[in-house]
Amino acid sequence: MKKKLLSVLLAATMVATLATGCGEAATEETETTAPAATEEKADDAAETTASGEQTVGIAMPTQSLERWNRDGSYLKEQFESKGYAVELTYSDNKIDQQVKDIEGLIADDVDLLVVAAVDGESLSQVLADAKDANIPVISYDRLIMNTDAISYYVSFDNYTVGKLQGEFVIDQLDLKNAGDKTYNIEFTAGDPADNNAGFFFNGAYDALKEYIDAGTLVVPSGQTKFDQVATPQWDTKNAMNRMENILGSNYGDGKTKLDVALCSNDSTALGVTQAIENNYWGDVKDVIITGQDGDVANLANLVDGKQTMTVYKAVANEAVATLDLGVALLNGETPDAGLIGSAGWSFDCAYDTESYDNGTGVIPSYLLVPTVVTKDNLQKELVDTGYYTLDDNGYPQATN
Ligand code: GAL
Repeated sequence: MKKKLLSVLLAATMVATLATGCGEAATEETETTAPAATEEKADDAAETTASGEQTVGIAMPTQSLERWNRDGSYLKEQFESKGYAVELTYSDNKIDQQVKDIEGLIADDVDLLVVAAVDGESLSQVLADAKDANIPVISYDRLIMNTDAISYYVSFDNYTVGKLQGEFVIDQLDLKNAGDKTYNIEFTAGDPADNNAGFFFNGAYDALKEYIDAGTLVVPSGQTKFDQVATPQWDTKNAMNRMENILGSNYGDGKTKLDVALCSNDSTALGVTQAIENNYWGDVKDVIITGQDGDVANLANLVDGKQTMTVYKAVANEAVATLDLGVALLNGETPDAGLIGSAGWSFDCAYDTESYDNGTGVIPSYLLVPTVVTKDNLQKELVDTGYYTLDDNGYPQATN
C-alpha cells in the first residue's frame, strides 16, 4: 500500500509537472474495463490474487496484425480472472500513439505495465516515467531497447522460430542428400523496428547458410541481408510488392523456378503468396512457403496447399506466463527460474539470462517454445488443443 501511495503521489506530481495533457489512456481503440470482482482466493504463492484495486495497463501495437488481437484478449482475460482491472490499448502501429497510450496508462496510475512495442527503440522516455512512478514493466513478446525500466521479458524463443523454418526447408528438400541438385530461394523478413525480426531472420539464415555457401540453395535476387529483405511494419502489401518485383526481375523467363519463399511470419507470407499467384509462371502449390503465427487466412492457405508451414506460438500460454510473472511483481517479489516450477505451467518455458541484452544490460527472459504446424498436424496442434475450431468447409477459425 505504501508503494501504491508513493506511486500515486509520484504520478500526480509527474502529471502536474509534465503537463502532458494525456490524462486519458483512451484512444479510439482503447478498451477499458471496470475493476473486476476480487473474490478468487490464492492457491499458491505464484498465483496470489489481486489485493483489491490494482490495475494492469496493457499496451499492444496494433489490431491490424491478427495475433495482437488474440494477445490482447488473452492477457485481459487472464488478469481479470485473478481480480485485476485491466486497461488495454492498441496503437495502430503508430509510435507516437503508443507513447501517448502509455503516458495515459501511467497517468491512470496502473500498477503494472505489459508492453508489446510498435518500435522497440522509441519508448525510453515514457518508460523512464513509468520507472519514476514505480510501475514495473514487462516487455511482452518484443524486447524494448535502451531502457532500464524493463524488469522482465516474456516471449517465445525467437531465434528458434527462424531455425524451425530453416530446418523445415532442409527436411522438405532433403538438402542433406541433395548432391548436385540446386534450389532457388528468396527471403522475406520482418519489421526492422521489431527486435524479434532479426532473431527470426538469423535463425532461418544460419540454419540454411551451409547450403547457400555450398551453392545448393541459390538466391537469384541476391538479397540475403536482413536490411534488403526486411518488411516495414510486417505489412502484407509491402511484402507482396517486393516479391512481385523480385519475381518480375529474376523469374520472368517462364522457366526459372522458385522453390522456397522463406517468410518470417504469416502477414508477410500472405503478401508473398499473393505475389506468387499474381506474378509467377509456376504453381504456388509447388513453392515451399513458411510463416509464423497461425493467422486464419494463412491456415486456410495451409489447408489449400498454398502455404506449407507456419510456426505457431501459443499466445494463450504467453498470457499465462505474463500473468504469473505480473502477479509476482505486483507482490513485490523478484522472480527467477523458480517461477517456472512454482507456477506449475502445463507448457515448456526456459528462464534465460543471456540472450536478450536491450542495450542497458541483459533482461531476464521467460521464453516459451514454438511449434511447427503443417496441414498434417493442424488438427492435433491447433484444433484438439482448443485454439481453433474447423468451420463447415474445414477451415480453422480462432476461438479467441
Ligand atoms: C513479432 C511477433 C510475431 C509476429 C510479428 C508481426 O514481433 O513475435 O509473432 O506477429 O511481430 O506482428
